[in-house]
Amino acid sequence: MKVFISRKIPEAGLQYLREAAVEISEWTEKRDLLPEELIAFCKNADAFLSAGGNKIDKTFLHAVRHLKVISLHSAGYDNVDVAAATEMKMPIGNTPGVLSDATADIAFLLMLATSRKAFYMCRTIQQGGWGFFEPTANLGIDIRGKMLGIYGLGKIGFELAKRAAAAFDMKIIYHNRNHNEDAEKELQARWVSFDELLERSDVLSVNTALTAETKGKFDKAVFAKMKPTAIFINAARGAIHNETDLTEALEKKTIWGAGLDVTNPEPMRPDHPLLFMPNVCVLPHIGSATEETRAAMSLLAAKNIVAGLRGERLPYIVNPDIYA
Ligand code: DGY
Repeated sequence: MKVFISRKIPEAGLQYLREAAVEISEWTEKRDLLPEELIAFCKNADAFLSAGGNKIDKTFLHAVRHLKVISLHSAGYDNVDVAAATEMKMPIGNTPGVLSDATADIAFLLMLATSRKAFYMCRTIQQGGWGFFEPTANLGIDIRGKMLGIYGLGKIGFELAKRAAAAFDMKIIYHNRNHNEDAEKELQARWVSFDELLERSDVLSVNTALTAETKGKFDKAVFAKMKPTAIFINAARGAIHNETDLTEALEKKTIWGAGLDVTNPEPMRPDHPLLFMPNVCVLPHIGSATEETRAAMSLLAAKNIVAGLRGERLPYIVNPDIYA
């Protein structure tokens, strides 16, 4: 049995596949495969381990319907037409849970770095701008004791809230479709309407999946309802915010700052105005990028491949309805 892997993945996953006697074919060039190239590689395999945002739409799924399993090297599955895969009974696996800590760490880092203009200050030194000291210059804002609003409080949001409450005594409000009882009990988080979340958050962090409902949710009208002192954080998916509207909201001081681990589109162009603003910190989608987390993700992705090739239920499945 053979798996095609669309980008280099950590050794932990490869080793698991080898031990299960799965033959590995890997794409190692540092460029995205064209859709027709991807189909050609998959046609020559029994399973597909998708690392990176390969578009797994209806056309692709129909072209590779012989595959026994498609396993994503990510928790997010917004690149997959899940309804089409389910209709075709194609099992789709993902890697939930293991990246919650690392991703929450990045959101936390961005929150603090933005509040103290850290990235901009570093660039200032590099440009020879560490000069005359003035007590009124380079001022950030404190986040201690402030209100953290979370849009989409799931596993990552919970970890972020835990850190913010423990480190900075921040109060937590959140907006979800359903109540998160653990967060309410353990962190005294309070569910609020979306409008209340916007109006009351000092830091507003997006920690939800990209869906039809969340796509483009943070636009001009939404930023206009936030505090002029608010910091917007997105470590989830760039398409949840409208980047032109965000840039304008920062330029016009509708909100105070922004910390982004994800941009819209990715990669961000190197001359994007957001990269030059003092109150903005941008990272290149590295939420899950630690040795430990990526190794754990590769292992879950490999476990899904092996289970799928054996005709077993995937341990981490996006579309469990196929087994109904
Ligand atoms: C995920 O797993 O969804 C992370 O954002 C990495 O893409």
